[in-house]
Amino acid sequence: MESPFKPEILKGKVALLTGGASGIGYEISTQFGKHGASIALMGRRKTVVDSAVSSLHALGIPAVGFAGDVRKQEDAKRVVESTIERFGKIDILVNAAAGNFLVSPEDLSPNGFRTVMDIDSVGTFTMCHEAINYLKKGGPGRSPDDSGGIILNISATLHYTASWYQIHVAAAKAAVDAITRNLALEWGTDYDIRVNGIAPGPINDTAGMRKLGPDEIKSKTREIMPLFKLGEKWDIAVAALYLASDAGKYVNGTTLVVDGGLWLSRPRH
Ligand code: HXC
Repeated sequence: MESPFKPEILKGKVALLTGGASGIGYEISTQFGKHGASIALMGRRKTVVDSAVSSLHALGIPAVGFAGDVRKQEDAKRVVESTIERFGKIDILVNAAAGNFLVSPEDLSPNGFRTVMDIDSVGTFTMCHEAINYLKKGGPGRSPDDSGGIILNISATLHYTASWYQIHVAAAKAAVDAITRNLALEWGTDYDIRVNGIAPGPINDTAGMRKLGPDEIKSKTREIMPLFKLGEKWDIAVAALYLASDAGKYVNGTTLVVDGGLWLSRPRH
Protein backbone atom coordinates (compact mmCIF):
# COMPACT_ATOMS: atom_id res chain seq x y z
CA MET A 1 0.00 0.00 0.00
CA GLU A 2 1.25 3.48 -0.81
CA SER A 3 2.60 5.41 2.15
CA PRO A 4 0.52 8.36 3.39
CA PHE A 5 3.77 10.00 4.49
CA LYS A 6 6.37 11.92 2.49
CA PRO A 7 9.39 9.75 1.61
CA GLU A 8 11.88 11.98 3.44
CA ILE A 9 10.27 12.14 6.91
CA LEU A 10 13.10 10.09 8.43
CA LYS A 11 15.84 11.39 6.14
CA GLY A 12 19.27 11.19 7.79
CA LYS A 13 17.97 9.21 10.78
CA VAL A 14 19.52 5.99 12.04
CA ALA A 15 17.23 3.33 13.50
CA LEU A 16 18.28 0.27 15.49
CA LEU A 17 15.60 -2.43 15.71
CA THR A 18 15.65 -5.57 17.84
CA GLY A 19 13.56 -8.30 16.29
CA GLY A 20 13.87 -6.17 13.18
CA ALA A 21 14.69 -8.99 10.78
CA SER A 22 11.28 -10.68 10.72
CA GLY A 23 7.57 -10.08 11.17
CA ILE A 24 6.36 -6.71 12.40
CA GLY A 25 9.93 -5.61 13.16
CA TYR A 26 11.01 -6.20 9.58
CA GLU A 27 8.07 -4.24 8.19
CA ILE A 28 8.98 -1.32 10.45
CA SER A 29 12.59 -1.59 9.22
CA THR A 30 11.40 -1.51 5.62
CA GLN A 31 9.07 1.46 6.08
CA PHE A 32 11.66 3.41 8.08
CA GLY A 33 14.18 2.72 5.28
CA LYS A 34 11.73 3.75 2.57
CA HIS A 35 11.25 7.03 4.43
CA GLY A 36 14.94 7.88 4.56
CA ALA A 37 16.40 6.09 7.59
CA SER A 38 19.50 3.91 7.73
CA ILE A 39 18.73 0.61 9.43
CA ALA A 40 20.60 -1.56 11.94
CA LEU A 41 18.96 -4.90 12.71
CA MET A 42 19.53 -7.12 15.72
CA GLY A 43 18.25 -10.68 15.86
CA ARG A 44 19.17 -14.01 17.35
CA ARG A 45 19.36 -15.94 14.07
CA LYS A 46 22.25 -14.82 11.86
CA THR A 47 20.79 -16.30 8.67
CA VAL A 48 17.49 -14.47 9.20
CA VAL A 49 19.32 -11.21 9.94
CA ASP A 50 21.56 -11.59 6.86
CA SER A 51 18.64 -12.29 4.60
CA ALA A 52 16.70 -9.27 5.94
CA VAL A 53 19.72 -7.03 5.35
CA SER A 54 19.97 -8.30 1.76
CA SER A 55 16.28 -7.57 1.19
CA LEU A 56 16.71 -4.02 2.52
CA HIS A 57 19.78 -3.51 0.30
CA ALA A 58 17.71 -4.67 -2.68
CA LEU A 59 15.32 -1.81 -1.91
CA GLY A 60 18.26 0.62 -1.85
CA ILE A 61 18.11 1.04 1.93
CA PRO A 62 21.42 1.40 3.85
CA ALA A 63 21.32 -1.49 6.32
CA VAL A 64 23.51 -3.57 8.57
CA GLY A 65 22.68 -6.59 10.71
CA PHE A 66 24.07 -8.01 13.92
CA ALA A 67 23.38 -11.37 15.51
CA GLY A 68 22.64 -10.94 19.18
CA ASP A 69 20.28 -11.82 22.03
CA VAL A 70 18.62 -9.00 23.99
CA ARG A 71 18.88 -11.22 27.08
CA LYS A 72 22.65 -10.73 27.06
CA GLN A 73 23.82 -7.32 28.15
CA GLU A 74 27.14 -7.79 26.34
CA ASP A 75 25.25 -8.42 23.07
CA ALA A 76 23.16 -5.29 23.57
CA LYS A 77 26.28 -3.23 24.23
CA ARG A 78 28.14 -4.70 21.25
CA VAL A 79 25.23 -4.10 18.85
CA VAL A 80 24.75 -0.51 20.02
CA GLU A 81 28.48 0.18 19.64
CA SER A 82 28.65 -1.55 16.25
CA THR A 83 25.73 0.58 15.05
CA ILE A 84 27.61 3.71 16.14
CA GLU A 85 30.75 2.47 14.35
CA ARG A 86 28.78 1.88 11.15
CA PHE A 87 26.41 4.85 11.08
CA GLY A 88 27.85 7.31 13.64
CA LYS A 89 24.69 7.74 15.73
CA ILE A 90 21.37 6.25 16.80
CA ASP A 91 18.21 8.35 16.50
CA ILE A 92 15.53 5.68 16.93
CA LEU A 93 15.56 2.48 18.99
CA VAL A 94 12.73 0.03 18.34
CA ASN A 95 12.32 -2.83 20.79
CA ALA A 96 10.42 -5.45 18.79
CA ALA A 97 12.10 -8.65 20.00
CA ALA A 98 9.60 -10.89 21.81
CA GLY A 99 9.06 -14.46 22.91
CA ASN A 100 5.71 -16.20 22.97
CA PHE A 101 4.06 -19.58 23.34
CA LEU A 102 0.67 -20.73 24.58
CA VAL A 103 0.73 -22.56 27.90
CA SER A 104 -1.51 -22.84 30.94
CA PRO A 105 -0.11 -21.41 34.19
CA GLU A 106 0.07 -24.84 35.79
CA ASP A 107 2.13 -26.19 32.90
CA LEU A 108 4.43 -23.16 32.68
CA SER A 109 7.67 -23.58 34.61
CA PRO A 110 9.03 -20.56 36.47
CA ASN A 111 11.92 -20.65 34.02
CA GLY A 112 9.50 -20.47 31.11
CA PHE A 113 7.82 -17.44 32.73
CA ARG A 114 11.23 -15.89 33.35
CA THR A 115 12.36 -16.53 29.77
CA VAL A 116 9.60 -14.37 28.30
CA MET A 117 10.09 -11.69 30.96
CA ASP A 118 13.80 -11.74 30.11
CA ILE A 119 13.24 -11.30 26.39
CA ASP A 120 10.35 -8.81 26.39
CA SER A 121 10.78 -6.77 29.57
CA VAL A 122 14.39 -7.03 30.72
CA GLY A 123 15.54 -7.11 27.08
CA THR A 124 13.69 -3.86 26.36
CA PHE A 125 15.19 -2.20 29.41
CA THR A 126 18.67 -3.50 28.60
CA MET A 127 18.60 -2.08 25.07
CA CYS A 128 17.37 1.29 26.37
CA HIS A 129 20.07 1.24 29.04
CA GLU A 130 22.84 0.52 26.56
CA ALA A 131 21.60 3.10 24.04
CA ILE A 132 20.83 6.01 26.39
CA ASN A 133 24.22 7.66 26.06
CA TYR A 134 23.70 7.97 22.29
CA LEU A 135 20.01 8.89 22.39
CA LYS A 136 20.26 11.77 24.81
CA LYS A 137 20.27 15.34 23.50
CA GLY A 138 23.87 16.34 22.84
CA GLY A 139 25.04 12.71 22.98
CA PRO A 140 27.80 11.32 20.74
CA GLY A 141 26.97 11.72 17.05
CA ARG A 142 24.12 14.20 17.67
CA SER A 143 24.44 17.76 16.45
CA PRO A 144 23.71 20.43 19.09
CA ASP A 145 20.39 21.45 17.52
CA ASP A 146 19.16 17.83 17.25
CA SER A 147 16.47 16.84 19.73
CA GLY A 148 16.97 13.71 21.79
CA GLY A 149 16.24 10.34 20.22
CA ILE A 150 13.11 8.22 20.08
CA ILE A 151 12.32 4.86 21.68
CA LEU A 152 9.45 2.68 20.47
CA ASN A 153 8.47 -0.41 22.43
CA ILE A 154 6.26 -3.02 20.79
CA SER A 155 3.67 -4.16 23.30
CA ALA A 156 0.29 -5.93 23.14
CA THR A 157 -3.27 -5.51 24.46
CA LEU A 158 -3.66 -8.87 26.16
CA HIS A 159 -2.80 -7.54 29.64
CA TYR A 160 -5.55 -4.88 29.52
CA THR A 161 -7.94 -7.65 30.49
CA ALA A 162 -6.86 -11.30 30.84
CA SER A 163 -5.89 -13.81 28.19
CA TRP A 164 -5.92 -17.58 28.28
CA TYR A 165 -2.50 -19.31 28.26
CA GLN A 166 -0.63 -16.00 28.09
CA ILE A 167 0.17 -15.22 31.74
CA HIS A 168 3.89 -14.84 31.03
CA VAL A 169 3.38 -12.61 27.98
CA ALA A 170 0.74 -10.50 29.76
CA ALA A 171 3.09 -9.92 32.69
CA ALA A 172 5.96 -9.15 30.33
CA LYS A 173 4.02 -6.65 28.23
CA ALA A 174 2.60 -4.95 31.34
CA ALA A 175 6.21 -4.39 32.39
CA VAL A 176 7.06 -3.07 28.92
CA ASP A 177 4.26 -0.49 29.22
CA ALA A 178 5.59 0.55 32.63
CA ILE A 179 9.07 0.95 31.13
CA THR A 180 7.56 3.11 28.36
CA ARG A 181 5.85 5.44 30.83
CA ASN A 182 8.71 5.71 33.30
CA LEU A 183 11.38 6.37 30.67
CA ALA A 184 9.07 8.88 28.98
CA LEU A 185 8.88 10.78 32.25
CA GLU A 186 12.52 10.60 33.28
CA TRP A 187 14.34 10.63 29.93
CA GLY A 188 11.81 13.00 28.39
CA THR A 189 12.50 15.47 31.17
CA ASP A 190 16.25 15.00 31.46
CA TYR A 191 17.32 14.15 27.90
CA ASP A 192 14.55 15.27 25.48
CA ILE A 193 13.92 11.66 24.47
CA ARG A 194 10.40 10.56 23.49
CA VAL A 195 9.42 7.05 24.56
CA ASN A 196 6.23 5.48 23.20
CA GLY A 197 4.78 2.05 22.54
CA ILE A 198 2.57 0.38 19.99
CA ALA A 199 0.11 -2.35 20.97
CA PRO A 200 -0.78 -4.35 17.85
CA GLY A 201 -3.92 -6.41 17.62
CA PRO A 202 -3.96 -9.64 15.58
CA ILE A 203 -1.72 -8.98 12.60
CA ASN A 204 -1.84 -11.18 9.53
CA ASP A 205 1.22 -13.22 8.57
CA THR A 206 3.16 -12.93 11.84
CA ALA A 207 4.68 -15.42 14.28
CA GLY A 208 2.20 -14.19 16.88
CA MET A 209 -0.80 -15.09 14.72
CA ARG A 210 0.65 -18.45 13.73
CA LYS A 211 1.23 -19.32 17.38
CA LEU A 212 -1.98 -17.94 18.83
CA GLY A 213 -4.49 -19.87 16.76
CA PRO A 214 -5.12 -18.11 13.44
CA ASP A 215 -7.95 -20.40 12.34
CA GLU A 216 -10.03 -19.72 15.40
CA ILE A 217 -9.47 -15.98 15.21
CA LYS A 218 -10.17 -15.84 11.47
CA SER A 219 -13.42 -17.76 11.74
CA LYS A 220 -14.65 -15.51 14.54
CA THR A 221 -13.29 -12.33 13.07
CA ARG A 222 -16.54 -11.01 11.67
CA GLU A 223 -18.38 -11.73 14.88
CA ILE A 224 -16.01 -10.01 17.30
CA MET A 225 -14.06 -7.37 15.41
CA PRO A 226 -15.59 -3.97 14.72
CA LEU A 227 -13.54 -3.56 11.54
CA PHE A 228 -14.13 -7.18 10.47
CA LYS A 229 -10.55 -7.94 9.52
CA LEU A 230 -7.06 -8.69 10.69
CA GLY A 231 -4.46 -5.96 10.69
CA GLU A 232 -1.52 -5.88 8.33
CA LYS A 233 2.12 -5.44 9.32
CA TRP A 234 1.92 -2.22 7.32
CA ASP A 235 -0.63 -0.81 9.80
CA ILE A 236 1.89 -1.17 12.61
CA ALA A 237 4.76 0.19 10.54
CA VAL A 238 2.92 3.40 9.61
CA ALA A 239 1.93 3.87 13.26
CA ALA A 240 5.65 3.57 14.05
CA LEU A 241 6.42 6.14 11.35
CA TYR A 242 3.95 8.55 12.91
CA LEU A 243 5.46 8.15 16.38
CA ALA A 244 9.08 8.26 15.17
CA SER A 245 8.66 11.28 12.89
CA ASP A 246 8.01 14.92 13.77
CA ALA A 247 4.28 14.19 13.35
CA GLY A 248 4.49 12.65 16.82
CA LYS A 249 6.70 15.32 18.39
CA TYR A 250 4.25 16.05 21.24
CA VAL A 251 3.48 12.38 21.92
CA ASN A 252 5.41 10.92 24.85
CA GLY A 253 4.68 8.06 27.23
CA THR A 254 1.72 6.62 25.36
CA THR A 255 1.14 3.17 23.94
CA LEU A 256 -0.83 3.49 20.74
CA VAL A 257 -3.31 0.64 20.29
CA VAL A 258 -3.53 -0.45 16.65
CA ASP A 259 -6.07 -3.26 16.73
CA GLY A 260 -9.20 -2.06 14.92
CA GLY A 261 -10.93 -1.68 18.28
CA LEU A 262 -10.69 -5.38 19.08
CA TRP A 263 -9.59 -5.32 22.70
CA LEU A 264 -12.56 -3.26 23.88
CA SER A 265 -15.18 -5.02 21.79
CA ARG A 266 -17.70 -7.69 22.79
CA PRO A 267 -19.64 -10.04 20.53
CA ARG A 268 -22.96 -8.60 19.29
CA HIS A 269 -26.00 -10.26 20.89
C1 HXC B 1 5.87 -24.37 27.78
C2 HXC B 1 7.96 -23.58 27.21
C3 HXC B 1 7.61 -23.56 25.83
C4 HXC B 1 6.29 -23.98 25.48
C5 HXC B 1 9.66 -22.85 26.02
N1 HXC B 1 9.23 -23.14 27.27
N2 HXC B 1 8.68 -23.09 25.13
N3 HXC B 1 7.12 -23.97 28.17
N4 HXC B 1 5.45 -24.36 26.49
N5 HXC B 1 5.87 -23.99 24.21
C6 HXC B 1 10.02 -23.05 28.49
C7 HXC B 1 11.03 -24.15 28.50
O1 HXC B 1 10.49 -25.36 28.97
C8 HXC B 1 12.09 -23.61 29.43
O2 HXC B 1 11.75 -23.78 30.80
C9 HXC B 1 12.02 -22.11 29.17
O3 HXC B 1 10.75 -21.84 28.55
C10 HXC B 1 13.10 -21.69 28.20
O4 HXC B 1 12.97 -22.46 27.01
P1 HXC B 1 14.11 -22.56 25.92
O5 HXC B 1 13.59 -23.33 24.78
O6 HXC B 1 15.40 -22.97 26.57
O7 HXC B 1 14.32 -21.04 25.59
P2 HXC B 1 14.76 -20.38 24.24
O8 HXC B 1 15.42 -21.36 23.33
O9 HXC B 1 15.53 -19.21 24.64
O10 HXC B 1 13.38 -19.97 23.57
C11 HXC B 1 12.50 -19.11 24.22
C12 HXC B 1 11.23 -18.92 23.41
C13 HXC B 1 11.65 -18.36 22.07
C14 HXC B 1 10.43 -17.90 24.17
C15 HXC B 1 10.44 -20.19 23.27
O11 HXC B 1 12.37 -19.28 21.32
C16 HXC B 1 10.50 -17.90 21.24
O12 HXC B 1 9.41 -17.62 21.62
N6 HXC B 1 10.74 -17.75 20.02
C17 HXC B 1 9.71 -17.31 19.11
C18 HXC B 1 9.66 -15.86 19.01
C19 HXC B 1 8.28 -15.40 18.64
O13 HXC B 1 7.36 -16.19 18.44
N7 HXC B 1 8.12 -14.11 18.50
C20 HXC B 1 6.82 -13.53 18.19
C21 HXC B 1 6.16 -13.27 19.44
S1 HXC B 1 4.54 -12.78 19.13
P3 HXC B 1 12.37 -25.03 31.68
O14 HXC B 1 11.75 -24.85 33.03
O15 HXC B 1 11.94 -26.27 30.98
O16 HXC B 1 13.85 -24.82 31.67
C22 HXC B 1 4.15 -11.84 20.39
C23 HXC B 1 2.75 -11.41 20.41
C24 HXC B 1 2.33 -11.17 21.81
O17 HXC B 1 4.94 -11.54 21.19
C25 HXC B 1 0.93 -10.65 21.89
C26 HXC B 1 -0.11 -11.59 21.46
C27 HXC B 1 -1.50 -11.10 21.64
